[in-house]
This record gives sequence, structure tokens and C-alpha cells, in this order.
Amino acid sequence: MAPIAWKPEYSVGNPAVDHEHQELIDLVNSTAAAILDRRPDADIQRGFGDLFRAISAHFALEEQQMRAHGYDQTDQHKADHERLLDELRDIMDGAGAHPQTAADRLVEALEAWFANHFRVHDSRLHLRLGPHDHG
Ligand SMILES: [Fe+2]
Ligand SMILES: [Fe+2]
Repeated sequence: MAPIAWKPEYSVGNPAVDHEHQELIDLVNSTAAAILDRRPDADIQRGFGDLFRAISAHFALEEQQMRAHGYDQTDQHKADHERLLDELRDIMDGAGAHPQTAADRLVEALEAWFANHFRVHDSRLHLRLGPHDHG
């Protein structure tokens, strides 16, 4: 399973947000690599924990910005965040018994979700918010 590579079409037009998205991609890749390299369980669990926390914090910030601006697609956007968190929890639950499958699922599922979510939801949100700090 090749790691997720950043693609120009992932850009939402705000360098600070793109940087944060790139960091999430890096955490997915490092967690998958820890599994594929057969690192100790503690390292793998730490990778999943760091990834889950970073994604949750990123979503919380976007959702706070949506509420602050009375963004018109808050519900749809938040639902797509929840969908990813559910999937990630499911992948983490299966990682103990079937780590290699979990690594494949992690990269596949997150790559598909990133490609769609950045283009459909985050681009629209950050266009509406205009130039702003992120973080
Ligand atoms: Fe985002
Ligand atoms: Fe988002």
C-alpha cells in the first residue's frame, strides 16, 4: 500500500489550511508505516491516538469557524466529519486482530475521504470564510 501523496487538487486555496491537511496526511502515512514495519504495538497505538486527536482537533476548529460565521452548510459538512471519525474508530478497533488489513483500510479510506472532502466541503468553506488564520 503506497503512502498518500499530496496532490495539487487537494488545495483549498488557503496555505495554512493546506499545511494542516498535509500534516493529517503525514500522520496517516506514519501510522500505516508503523504497522507495515511491524513496529511494537505501543508505537502503533500511539500513531492511531495522535492521528485521531489531530483529526478531531482539526474538525472542531472548522466546526467552530462554521458556527461563528453562520455557515449555510454546517450540518452537511459536520456529518461528513462524523462519517470519517466513525470509520477511523472502526479501523482502530480492528487493528489489534488484523493489523495489516487495518493499515490498508486506513490508507484507502482516508485517501478517498480526503480527496472528496477537501474538494467538496473544505474548499467551499474556506472560500466562504475568505482569508483567515487557521490554528
Ligand atoms: Fe479540513
Ligand atoms: Fe472539513
